[in-house]
Amino acid sequence: MKAWEKNIRKVTPYVPGEQPKVDGIIKLNTNENPYGPSKRVEEIKYDMDNLRKYPDPKIELLVDAIAEYHGLTSDKVFVGVGSDDVIAMAFMTYFNSDKPILFPDITYSFYDVWADMLHIPYERVPLNSDFRIVKEDYIGRECGGIIFPNPNAPTGILESVDFIEEIVKANPDVIVIIDEAYIDFGGETVLPLIDKYDNLVITRTFSKSRSMAGLRIGYAMANPVLIKYLNDVKYSFNSYTLNSLSIILGTESVKDDAYFKETVQKVINTREWFTEEAKKLGFRVLPSSSNFVFAEHEKLSGNEIFEYLKANKIYVRHFSSPRIDNFLRISIGTDEEMKALVNCLRQQIEAL
Ligand SMILES: Cc1ncc(COP(=O)(O)O)c(C=O)c1O
Repeated sequence: MKAWEKNIRKVTPYVPGEQPKVDGIIKLNTNENPYGPSKRVEEIKYDMDNLRKYPDPKIELLVDAIAEYHGLTSDKVFVGVGSDDVIAMAFMTYFNSDKPILFPDITYSFYDVWADMLHIPYERVPLNSDFRIVKEDYIGRECGGIIFPNPNAPTGILESVDFIEEIVKANPDVIVIIDEAYIDFGGETVLPLIDKYDNLVITRTFSKSRSMAGLRIGYAMANPVLIKYLNDVKYSFNSYTLNSLSIILGTESVKDDAYFKETVQKVINTREWFTEEAKKLGFRVLPSSSNFVFAEHEKLSGNEIFEYLKANKIYVRHFSSPRIDNFLRISIGTDEEMKALVNCLRQQIEAL
């Protein structure tokens, strides 16, 4: 072993879903949106001369557009390179206590990676046997902060605004981050609570409902004091986070609300159709408010289905973690893609 090895920061990285380089596949493994971004985005003419210059470190154009969209002042919005970047900055900024931060045992698998890397103590709080968050587990406990997605991932299960308010209210001394990556697919946001509770931070992404995973845009919303602390950390780390093309295209997307609502509704309709079809095929499907469903089959293992689908060029996500290794997380594609998936599943099941 080289002497310098002992000085290396060793981390166990997050493993992103596969981005296969094969043509003709049906890709339902990373919760992307099957519909392209708004036509307004396609029509933008980007002046390549802009590339000479650094982008606006304040990301003002996009911060202002997001603030206006949500009816907020701009000092309540922070924009970053996807919500992964925003949440990583939020961990650095808000979770600086010796007490453990709390998040569910089954949740977005990046949270423990950031916590490990930043030496933030944490505790994974078990979901109940129905895969739901138990509110009482987050109340009356000393902790260094709380984070969970609503709807949760990979379960897709949504909790109510009242449910979350109780947790935020019971933890006034620490920051509670609600990761609303999937909230547009049928959930009610806790956004109005940021004016009522000074310890609440909400994160969002353009990767799912806005169909722009490739541009890497995410944002946080909170009171101006918390946003200022987040910016202080950002400027201590990397001041030019978002590139100038993403700033311009992201801003156009926010302006086309009709297209946004239409495509989100299409995804919801397809999700409801697919859920019923999957149940008919013998799947248990958790109630989803997201652009994916989490399902297990009564006879076939998660891995068997995963491998069969992959052999048929259909990619879904399988996690080999305890409690969920029999489940598949299936992103909602177009109607045609989901019909092809149902047909493929039917073939496998009928051959039993
Ligand atoms: C719960 C949750 N939060 C955050 C993210 C990160 O999204 P992005 O970095 O693309 O904004 C994801 C992506 O899958 C997610 O599932």
